[in-house]
Amino acid sequence: MSALLEVSGLVVAFGDVRAVRGVSFTVGEGETLAIVGESGSGKSLSSLAVLGLLPAQARVEAGEIRWDGTDLRAADADRVRRLRGEELAMIFQDPLSALNPSLTVGYQVAEMFRRRRGLGRADAGRRAVEAMTEVGIPDAARRAGAYPHEFSGGMRQRVMIAMALALEPRLLVADEPTTALDVTVQAQILRLLRQRQRAGLAMVIISHDLGVVARAARSVVVMYAGQAVEAGAVADVYPAPAHPYTLGLLAASPSARDGDRRVRPIEGYPPDIAALPGGCAFHPRCPFARQRCRTEEPPLREVAPGRSSACHYAEEVVSRGATVGHAGA
Ligand SMILES: Nc1ncnc2c1ncn2[C@@H]1O[C@H](COP(=O)(O)OP(=O)(O)O)[C@@H](O)[C@H]1O
Ligand code: SF4
Ligand SMILES: [Mg+2]
Repeated sequence: MSALLEVSGLVVAFGDVRAVRGVSFTVGEGETLAIVGESGSGKSLSSLAVLGLLPAQARVEAGEIRWDGTDLRAADADRVRRLRGEELAMIFQDPLSALNPSLTVGYQVAEMFRRRRGLGRADAGRRAVEAMTEVGIPDAARRAGAYPHEFSGGMRQRVMIAMALALEPRLLVADEPTTALDVTVQAQILRLLRQRQRAGLAMVIISHDLGVVARAARSVVVMYAGQAVEAGAVADVYPAPAHPYTLGLLAASPSARDGDRRVRPIEGYPPDIAALPGGCAFHPRCPFARQRCRTEEPPLREVAPGRSSACHYAEEVVSRGATVGHAGA
């Protein structure tokens, strides 16, 4: 059985600086994958590459991107543009920047149906109100006449979701969809996305907070400095991470630590991708680091069926993590 989306060995570069260094992941029909990692780890670039939306200075230097069997790197720009919207959709952290401030929200949602479905004005307007109602915007018929700045952050994110889902895509990429929202609204948006999953929508959900995505995704890829350092099923990774960085992300996640407020940020900062440390890129921050880690780069390897880690001492981390009780809280 082939996956809906298959990304393998993806390398994204700005000139000779590689911001994404050989990342692979797959998303099956109706499945949800979480991509997590601190800011700057290459999460957005990885997904923008899939959608053909990389910034002009960036290019895909190597790797394969297959959508439902089609090689997207070889496909012409028109084909990719059609797929985007029809089959692949994306929502971003900051909905305000994606909406036109001078047009009403209803007009902008209706525009999707007019342009992409060829509906007339009245029909498109009706579909817009329906789409807004489906994502939980109360009194949508009236609020369709309001402007983006009259909506709260959470309501604006709902509008973005309504627009992304308008054409019934098969995959939704949600890049930090709840980062700008307070905790209650965050939970509402995640609930809304989970309803769509249950209706069969495949999803890639990106976050810097492992806790936020843990309950929304079946599998997870943890990124550090442009690479996948751990991957596997959430149900396996979350209770007993196989990479020290994943342990650190869990300890640093407010939402992963219900009932335990002692959030411990990971010490130090992510490296400059133009000047990566030798050996394991995480070694300057790693509590498990040894001499070998400074010189020998750990490959991503299978540490259990369906689980991989790029740590020389993955097995030790799994057992230590479990006994230290970092996981799950
Ligand atoms: N427009 C750009 N120009 C130059 N470098 C960039 C640009 N966008 C991203 N980068 C580099 O790529 C890295 C990864 O970016 P990104 O994928 O946006 O990270 P994330 O989404 O994980 O926060 C950044 O740390 C930065 O060094
Ligand atoms: S390889 Fe070494 S430095 Fe890298 S994560 Fe594992 S223990 Fe830490
Ligand atoms: Mg990002």
